[in-house]
Amino acid sequence: MPKHTFKVNGVAQTVDAPDDMPLLWVLRDLIGLTGTKYGCGMAQCGACTVLIDREVTLSCVLPVSQAKGRSVTTIEGLGTDGALHRVQAAWLEAEVSQCGYCQPGQILAAAALLARNPSPSDADIDAAMSGNLCRCGTYGRIREAIRLAAAGGARS
Ligand code: FES
Ligand code: FES
Repeated sequence: MPKHTFKVNGVAQTVDAPDDMPLLWVLRDLIGLTGTKYGCGMAQCGACTVLIDREVTLSCVLPVSQAKGRSVTTIEGLGTDGALHRVQAAWLEAEVSQCGYCQPGQILAAAALLARNPSPSDADIDAAMSGNLCRCGTYGRIREAIRLAAAGGARS
């Protein structure tokens, strides 16, 4: 079995896995980080969103071989105990989550947006978040939370 070494949330990980195993399965089943969710498995919903080298990536369709040597951030690594990322703090303040299933992906996509565009317009927000679906319809609150985080208004 090939070995694959990459960083997850700042920690080096080496896993034995077929080259074509999706990164999502590696994260959940081999590393035990279950915050990243399986939705469609077809690059259609965004539930499996992670950041790789700070870019939004759909882990359900990324072969683990393509993560070699790179730096993966999952929802577990965005904030730290007692120090939420500003997007997480804004999410709490705006009470975004409903069932929660899509939320790790939404939060990571929002964090990536604000990292590259600190003052996004509503159009920027809609464009950046268009790949992340929410069956509970939290879109309005997501937009509100992103505005809050951009304005620096959320407690963290
Ligand atoms: S599970 Fe990856 S996009 Fe839906
Ligand atoms: S909060 Fe339920 S799917 Fe988004």
